[in-house]
Amino acid sequence: MEKNRETFGSRFAVIMAMAGSAIGLGNIWRFPYMVGEYGGAAFIIVYIVASLVLAMPIFFAESVIGRRSGSGTFGAMEKLAPGTRWKWLGFLTVLSPIIILSYYSVVGGWSVEYLFKSFEFAGMTEGDVTGFFGKFISSVQMPILAHTAFLLLVAGVVLGGVRKGIEQFTKITMPILFVLIVIIAVYGLSLPGSGKGVEYLVRPDFSKLTPSTVTAAMGQAFFSLSLGVGTILTYASYMKKDENILASGLGTAFFDLFFAILAGFAVMPAVFAAGIAPGAGPGIVFETLPFIFNKMGAASQLLSTGISFLFFFTILAAALTSAISMMEVGVAYLTEEKGMRRRTAVLLITLFAWVVGILCSLSFGPLSGVRILGDGIFDFLDKLCSNWLLPLGGLLFTIFVGWKMKPSDVYDEFTNGGTLKANRAVFKTVLLLIRFVAPAGIIAVFISLLI
Ligand code: PHE
Repeated sequence: MEKNRETFGSRFAVIMAMAGSAIGLGNIWRFPYMVGEYGGAAFIIVYIVASLVLAMPIFFAESVIGRRSGSGTFGAMEKLAPGTRWKWLGFLTVLSPIIILSYYSVVGGWSVEYLFKSFEFAGMTEGDVTGFFGKFISSVQMPILAHTAFLLLVAGVVLGGVRKGIEQFTKITMPILFVLIVIIAVYGLSLPGSGKGVEYLVRPDFSKLTPSTVTAAMGQAFFSLSLGVGTILTYASYMKKDENILASGLGTAFFDLFFAILAGFAVMPAVFAAGIAPGAGPGIVFETLPFIFNKMGAASQLLSTGISFLFFFTILAAALTSAISMMEVGVAYLTEEKGMRRRTAVLLITLFAWVVGILCSLSFGPLSGVRILGDGIFDFLDKLCSNWLLPLGGLLFTIFVGWKMKPSDVYDEFTNGGTLKANRAVFKTVLLLIRFVAPAGIIAVFISLLI
């Protein structure tokens, strides 16, 4: 089995696949709404710091484990620390991406719906447009249908196998995605009233910083870089031995951060131009943009429809590549550890995510009364994953690499046996971050959460 394990074909393919996983609804849907909820520029700064100091070390730690072991998260623990309790980290990181997949595909479904709705926004009345999102997510059939469609798309790509499916798909969609967001951001900035949104994004007000801002920023950094759930680990296991872990990590993080900021500039100025409160919550992208497209429709129906369609196509493509990577973690586990056929593994995970996703979708409507620790099902699962499971997984990965693995093995993997000069130069710093800074930072945030 080992010998036939597929690998990504080139550096470009590795970065594109990792960036494809990282860049998704986390950047386009979640980032703007977090920025709005936690007060703008100050949140962005904390988010950037958390990305560099807490998230990057985990990125490297996962890459080292993945490529060293050449298997998915569960198998990696079995190989590098056989017969130890570390297998529970394997379990945790198989479970959490599947939970994320469940609610993620509900939002993925929203973008499927909006893709088709694009043809109507320009012609709707203003009241219908602003009221649409609330009516849509609280209804029963359409969101579930859209969630189903999205999940089937994901399953279809994953069934194609690592190379043919994921590599080909992300190679094509990521560059297109980039061009589309730039066009939309430039358009957003040209709207009257958008200046306030720019100010909101660049002028920090640190007086609003609280522990929950820091928690949210850390959670967002992990979510956005697909960390703590074994996704990066699994992708790194498909990396060739001569591939550069430092370079692909930095490359991926650069693209991810860039896309998030870009998405902020595509969304926030439009939020202000539309007179919507920046703290409007998870629906903000889906509430703001149709309003704008509707306004635009007065000038040119065709332009409005075109931009709307492109925008939601962009979101959908980005969401797909991320969701694919979540499913891939579970598929790697079931095929490699349980000897299941790929098809069976995909079917099982799809079924699980479908059922849990339906509950999440209904939590905006008929099940809105169901509260877990004060939150609806969807919000509860999102908070559970972003604020707890991802940081916990990340913390354990850094402890594993920093304290359990032999430093010489980590060095070998990080520097490709000492052959990479730049990697050698930064190794000590990276190890310091992995051993002390990242774990201490995450634990401090956990403690502040509990208090
Ligand atoms: N990083 C993805 C995004 O930004 C979400 C994700 C989280 C993907 C965890 C895989 C694992 O949309």
